[in-house]
Amino acid sequence: MLIDLVRKNRSFRGYDHSRKITKEELLCMVEAARLCPSSVNIQPFKYYLAYEEDKVFILQKETHWARGLPEMTLPHPGKEPTAFIVICQDQRIFESLARFQKDVGIVAQTMLLQAVEMGLGGCMIGNFNAASVKEVLGLEEQMHPLLIVAVGKPDEEIILTDVGEGGSTSYYRDDEDRHYVPKRALDDIIL
Ligand SMILES: Cc1cc2nc3c(=O)[nH]c(=O)nc-3n(C[C@H](O)[C@H](O)[C@H](O)COP(=O)(O)O)c2cc1C
Repeated sequence: MLIDLVRKNRSFRGYDHSRKITKEELLCMVEAARLCPSSVNIQPFKYYLAYEEDKVFILQKETHWARGLPEMTLPHPGKEPTAFIVICQDQRIFESLARFQKDVGIVAQTMLLQAVEMGLGGCMIGNFNAASVKEVLGLEEQMHPLLIVAVGKPDEEIILTDVGEGGSTSYYRDDEDRHYVPKRALDDIIL
């Protein structure tokens, strides 16, 4: 059921480092993205696949995780993702980056749902420096990194909870490193 995949599809920040991800698995994710809706069907995105150890290492250093838990180093050392997909906009196809901000969310979520169905998981990473990523990957001038999707075999527990009395939506961890993510109740989001 789709709703089960959506529930399982959390933002994982801890992975089994021994489980490498293959190029074929990443291609399966991009195949799902390829079929997504696109504004005026322009499809300006291109995908950089990182699954070799050196490329994954380079990208890991570019990504910033869990701004909501500044006291923690996440992923914990040794629990980093084992692959990344960098969603880029090919500005030769369409120059304006603002125009495709919605499209990028659609392809990212679709790729992650595909990953979950394959027994994997990931995390969208918006917190990175695009110019720096472009440089370390040696991307062409008109290839602009929009969003990075981390991929791996999740190795941490994430629990969805309801937003409590105080109304806080901040995620948090308990002493055993279980990660809690408050979601607003259905009644509270219907107008
Ligand atoms: C567009 C976007 C960008 C995100 N960027 C980051 C990021 O840079 N680093 C990070 O650790 N998490 C990032 N996240 C993950 C969110 O923190 C996460 O979705 C939120 O805490 C809710 O958790 P959930 O995805 O498990 O429901 C991002 C999520 C989205 C949708």
